[in-house]
Amino acid sequence: MAVLEKTASQKAIDLENKYGAHNYHPLPVVLTRGEGVYVWDVDGKKYYDFLSAYSAVNQGHCHPKIVDAMNDQAQRLTLTSRAFHNDMLGVYEKYASEYFNFDKLLPMNTGAEAVETAIKICRKWAYEKKGIEENEAEIIVCENNFHGRTTTIISFSNDPIARKNFGPYTNGFIKVSYDNLAELEQAMASSPNIAGFLVEPIQGEAGVYVPSEDYLIKAKALCEKYDVLFIADEVQTGIARTGRLLATCGNCDCPKKDCSGTPDVKPDILILGKALSGGAYPVSAVLANDAIMNVIKPGTHGSTFGGNPVAAAVAMAALEVVREEALAENADTLGALFRSELQAYIDTSNIATLVRGKGLLNAIVINDTEESDTAWNICLKLRDNGLLAKPTHGNIIRFAPPLVMNESQLRECIEIIINTLKTFEK
Ligand SMILES: Cc1ncc(COP(=O)(O)O)c(C=O)c1O
Repeated sequence: MAVLEKTASQKAIDLENKYGAHNYHPLPVVLTRGEGVYVWDVDGKKYYDFLSAYSAVNQGHCHPKIVDAMNDQAQRLTLTSRAFHNDMLGVYEKYASEYFNFDKLLPMNTGAEAVETAIKICRKWAYEKKGIEENEAEIIVCENNFHGRTTTIISFSNDPIARKNFGPYTNGFIKVSYDNLAELEQAMASSPNIAGFLVEPIQGEAGVYVPSEDYLIKAKALCEKYDVLFIADEVQTGIARTGRLLATCGNCDCPKKDCSGTPDVKPDILILGKALSGGAYPVSAVLANDAIMNVIKPGTHGSTFGGNPVAAAVAMAALEVVREEALAENADTLGALFRSELQAYIDTSNIATLVRGKGLLNAIVINDTEESDTAWNICLKLRDNGLLAKPTHGNIIRFAPPLVMNESQLRECIEIIINTLKTFEK
């Protein structure tokens, strides 16, 4: 009987549940198409995407320039491995190194791999340049960090679910509170073996925690004082998401030259991923100057797919789009509008307590306990109302649309969000 037949979307969900490992808890919606700021489900319903695949789709879904670059390259040459040269890798390395103003780039695929790579470079630098005794190097990380899912990375996470029963863990990490310079300096002064400080310029997964204005710049100054490498994980915050090319925004060739009043920090090691490809393909990278990157020699590190020609073509197109479409400026302007409109609503309501963020990386805190399912239920209702978002943790909902959004689209989204929140007012 037709009425008993499962919908296409239920079938897709059932297949994932039966044949896929249950390592995620997705919102029940099954997408089949994306274009710009929109995605469509298998029943043809259209949504605003307010997650952007965790900030990977900054350039919008299926950006034609990126898709064309990918298709063109895929028809010519996809993979050589690094056993041979290819005619795209060097061009890309030059382009991206100049774009972010570093001497060199080391290509990888996923964010976690790039973080692992940065840790390895930092340790090697510590032994070969700083003179730390072998196996003694320590890297300072922050409480509530999120840097990925590998065994080493979860070793310094303090998320119990991410860690439990995955030990034994990797040693060599010291945790300090985020946005706490006194603790950071204490840790640096506590041992001559500190090699690096690994930090997210904004803690995205933790719930979009924006540190104090001077935190990054003062942390960088402490790194210089103690000869410690400042390692910025901009996998989520980078590539225009926070209203600047990078949230640390060193003296890279930023399209937004006037960064007065905000921190201007050049990391020693920069980690990029996600939107480096516009979400079209897994591309990540670590950038550093020669004095650091030259510790890497043949045989010390690698990846079969890292630096493949498709990744190179896709990343160059994705970075060009960021410049050509002034995505950093757009994120800056629209982000300010988003926060001010949401704040004005929150001032009159008891369902949310605050909105915070930078550029188009924002979150609201729902007025309920961390264990409550209110934020999840709000996201289900947002879905019904045509907008896709997801809680980061418990009662925090992240809002991170593609940066190609325009003002009238954003205003429509603000209306959807506020009208949805109103139905949950107590
Ligand atoms: C700051 C940060 N670092 C690293 C990662 C890991 O990236 P991937 O999921 O591509 O391994 C993420 C992913 O969300 C992230 O937000």
